[in-house]
Amino acid sequence: MLILGIETSCDETAAAVLRDGEEILSSIVSSQVEIHREYGGVVPELASRQHIQNICPVVDTALRRARVTLPRIDALAATYGPGLIGSLLVGLSYAKALAYALGRPLVAINHLEAHIHSVFLENKSIEFPALALVVSGGHTSLFYLPAQFSYQLLGSTRDDAAGEAYDKVAKLLNLGYPGGPIIDQLSPRGNPKAVALPVAKISDGSLDFSFSGLKTAVLRWVERNNLLEAKDSEAKQQHIYDLVASFQQTLIKSLLGKITKAARLHPAKSLLVGGGVACNQALRMELTRRCQRLGLKAHFPSPELCTDNAAMVASLGYFKLKMGQAAPLELDADASLKLA
Ligand code: KG4
Ligand code: ZN
Repeated sequence: MLILGIETSCDETAAAVLRDGEEILSSIVSSQVEIHREYGGVVPELASRQHIQNICPVVDTALRRARVTLPRIDALAATYGPGLIGSLLVGLSYAKALAYALGRPLVAINHLEAHIHSVFLENKSIEFPALALVVSGGHTSLFYLPAQFSYQLLGSTRDDAAGEAYDKVAKLLNLGYPGGPIIDQLSPRGNPKAVALPVAKISDGSLDFSFSGLKTAVLRWVERNNLLEAKDSEAKQQHIYDLVASFQQTLIKSLLGKITKAARLHPAKSLLVGGGVACNQALRMELTRRCQRLGLKAHFPSPELCTDNAAMVASLGYFKLKMGQAAPLELDADASLKLA
């Protein structure tokens, strides 16, 4: 069975063709990073306009690379939430139109579930129960999965998402956009213990996350030390490396703390990690190490499947279709769709 997946929930226009939910025949991602860079973050109106321009060529390229023509597609899968409403509408409407014109079923995909599912594309032997952490530019959520495709929400961010914190810290230090990969690269040059930053404590003991205090602490440190006004020098550069290394270390510490607590409350065999921040080298290393101590096996997708892509959407679409979960064509996009 050939599935065409479409993903446009944020700022990547993506299309992929998969055979039987597992074999990636093509996966095309058109990034809008260049457009949003000058604003240091995604501008929703620009994102949806760009999706409209990109969607046809991206789908055409995905079909061509997979060496298939549209009539051979057996089903469509598209993200319908959560995300930016204008962006979601472009991909979902396009997929609906194709499904209608071709007379093929449409499967509507939850973006968070797709990020979790991306782990299964490369690993067939994941044991349950599992914990799943989605860490991206728009989301930081932790789930308990008693079995595959079954989700209980344990916690989510009360303010900024982890990736958003990376992007905002990089913006305030004029390091560029998106901030995650840049800070990932620069951090090894700094001392992660150089700047003491707070790990948010949530007093009700919940498994929720909070990163806005950490971002503000970075801002205060920059202001107190007049970091941005200082003349360019090796010392200033080193301060920046130390600061981003300390920021990253603190953010990872906060994630490790919640995973540890969740694993004690909800014993599991695996930890699945998805979303753009799951590309982070230090996070991958430290989570793997912590999970070993907790008796969990940590699973990360390869980097191109961590960030937004349509292969995860098409793959999940295949399994949903097998479970009889095709969507009606009247289905609307839902910007604040929940997974559990
Ligand atoms: O999953 P994604 O592509 O889009 C959303 O669903 O939000 O995630 C994008 C986010 C951005 O905030 C970006 O800075 C972050 O993932 N990111 C990283 C890394 N690569 C991307 N954060 C930390 N380290 C990285 N290597
Ligand atoms: Zn995402």
